[in-house]
Amino acid sequence: MSMNGFRCFRCNATQPANYTGFQCPTCGGNLEITYPYREIGAQLQGRFTSTREDIFRYLPLLPITSDRYAPALRVGHTPLYAAERLGAAAGLPHLLLKDEGLNPSASFKDRASAVAIACAREIGAPMTAGASTGNAGSSMACMSAAAGIPCVIFVPEKAPVAKLTQLLIFGARVIAVRGTYDDAFDLCMQVCERHGWFNRNTGFNPFTREGKKTGSFELWEQLNGEIPDWVVVPVGDGNILSGIWKGFRELRETGLAAKTPRLLCAQSEQSAAITQTIRNIGDRAVTDWSKITVENVHATTIADSISVDIPRDGLAAVRAVIESNGAAVTVPDAAILEALSELARHAAVFSEPAAATAWACAKQAVADGIINKNETVVCLLTGSGLKDVASARKIVQDPVLIDPNLPAAEDALADIIAGA
Ligand SMILES: Cc1ncc(COP(=O)(O)O)c(C=O)c1O
Ligand SMILES: [Zn+2]
Repeated sequence: MSMNGFRCFRCNATQPANYTGFQCPTCGGNLEITYPYREIGAQLQGRFTSTREDIFRYLPLLPITSDRYAPALRVGHTPLYAAERLGAAAGLPHLLLKDEGLNPSASFKDRASAVAIACAREIGAPMTAGASTGNAGSSMACMSAAAGIPCVIFVPEKAPVAKLTQLLIFGARVIAVRGTYDDAFDLCMQVCERHGWFNRNTGFNPFTREGKKTGSFELWEQLNGEIPDWVVVPVGDGNILSGIWKGFRELRETGLAAKTPRLLCAQSEQSAAITQTIRNIGDRAVTDWSKITVENVHATTIADSISVDIPRDGLAAVRAVIESNGAAVTVPDAAILEALSELARHAAVFSEPAAATAWACAKQAVADGIINKNETVVCLLTGSGLKDVASARKIVQDPVLIDPNLPAAEDALADIIAGA
């Protein structure tokens, strides 16, 4: 492990590498892990040389000493598709889709959970826990199963059935909380504090961001060292966004990349805490981040994974958008479902609503003149559509039910046959 220590997003106070509290002891802000970038850059000499294909190929920039703590699953190494037909419809010839639904538990969260579990293993944690809208928990349950460490997951009682089923089948102890994700989050904090369990909670646990940043390293490798103009990230708590930004900053600070992309924060109008905070800041230059208050909202979006009242990594996410010279865009839920359908039909990627929000917001940003049509745009499709089939069923017609005979089939297909 080559990490230097921790730095607070709010007040910039630093802590040594052996600091074990997950939050800033001075102000309670979230911490980010820092590394000796120049030294690591000199060792890397322009590229990651590991023969591993998963996220542990980035070991020099991960907070563990050895990849022997990695769960024995392939996390990351997800495909990046050129989506020409989909992009053409919005006038975007250089549209790329990163399909994170192909991770072991079918979401981007596996990157974070794999690193969190590796850290828990390295320190010998006997028990892990986390609160989740569904995906973080199901990925933690999956990684815990791979590592053979027990885990307890707190979810809101309304989590989609596929995510709940994943949690249960991977053998997690699942506590369904009569309340929101935020209630589940607070309860998990209390239980972990009292019983000394390793707490994966998003934003609070600084190690999850270390997994999420690997998405940026991978993009950079897949683009042969090129940096896209925009990376579009669906945002709830803001930890994926802050992780993606950290990854690109680290590529620059180690000298691997000369520039960074602009980040587009993609949210539903019905869960827009981070976007609202960015709008409140407006054109003001922020010199003291401890003076910025992140908005709280009452989230009601159908995109359950990004339905968040109190963004737990909000300040880091707001900083990521502003420091990357990015932007924040919201869309109505109807546009999210339309985007979900377009992604499936024109790019053959079945995404859950939260993931489809990236494409819906990319189109909105083009319409608003934020994204220029000739720019290279990567949409991070953070979770599989199989996580929430009920939402997808809302936008498709039921199949035609017929008796098993030829006239009935021809009758049902009359329009196609007539057109042929
Ligand atoms: C599929 C999916 N997309 C996006 C997000 C948003 O990530 P964050 O809460 O870190 O902003 C999540 C979080 O659960 C998710 O599961
Ligand atoms: Zn602080």
